[in-house]
Amino acid sequence: MGFFKTLNEEYELCKRRDPSIHSKWEVLLYPYFNAKMAHRRAHKHYLAGHYFRARWISQRASRKTGIEIHPGAKIGKDFFIDHGTGVVIGETAEIGDNVMLFHGVTLGGTGKDTGKRHPTVGNDVTIYAQTTVLGPINIGDDVIIGAESVVRHDVEAHTTVVGSPIRVVKRRLSDGSVIAYNRDGSIRSVTDRAGTVIEQGKDCRNCCIADKCGPSAQQE
Ligand SMILES: CC(C)(COP(=O)(O)OP(=O)(O)OC[C@H]1O[C@@H](n2cnc3c(N)ncnc32)[C@H](O)[C@@H]1OP(=O)(O)O)[C@@H](O)C(=O)NCCC(=O)NCCS
Repeated sequence: MGFFKTLNEEYELCKRRDPSIHSKWEVLLYPYFNAKMAHRRAHKHYLAGHYFRARWISQRASRKTGIEIHPGAKIGKDFFIDHGTGVVIGETAEIGDNVMLFHGVTLGGTGKDTGKRHPTVGNDVTIYAQTTVLGPINIGDDVIIGAESVVRHDVEAHTTVVGSPIRVVKRRLSDGSVIAYNRDGSIRSVTDRAGTVIEQGKDCRNCCIADKCGPSAQQE
């Protein structure tokens, strides 16, 4: 792909992800852009078995950007890292399309697994600052993980999770409604596609959508 085509595509991505960008040329100054371009080159060398060259490229990019992506990691389209400093992505991590990470995110191993050791992240996922995701676990599509969380188990698609250990705070249903949960797993509110609150503060067992809302709301 030509340089200008890549620059235009990345500019469109930056505009969607970071409202503070003002011009196309600023893309060249984003740490994620440099790390991503280096990773593309490093990954090709890795796949060709040129491990020393691959690691040399990734380590040089890491020194320049503060983002360390192992050359073996698989990364999908429209990948964006905001700020970037302190991001670490392990060798067997797999990242889907349209994924956004913030500074300090680790997609790492526990040190106990062999072979596939790092997380698999679905499409349309956002992982906020300083969050650690460990082990060969699956993060489903359309997941949001709050800042400073530690994730050691699979995360169900279409949820927002926070904390350590994580808890589900929101669940997005296919009809566009969103269920928000209290700390005890009971339903705090349900909003419809337009954001209008249609249930609030109800015992989840009597809620009109209790059958749709999944295990975290049913547990109490
Ligand atoms: C997860 C996040 C996106 C909020 O999602 P949300 O769906 O709007 O959640 P709410 O704000 O309604 O919070 C729901 C509950 O989760 C808690 N919560 C939210 N974020 C949390 C976090 N990161 N860690 C622990 N608890 C958190 C809230 O305190 C609230 O708790 P309560 O049930 O006791 O009231 C947001 O809190 C977050 O973590 N943002 C990170 C921003 C960031 O990294 N910015 C870096 C910019 S440089």
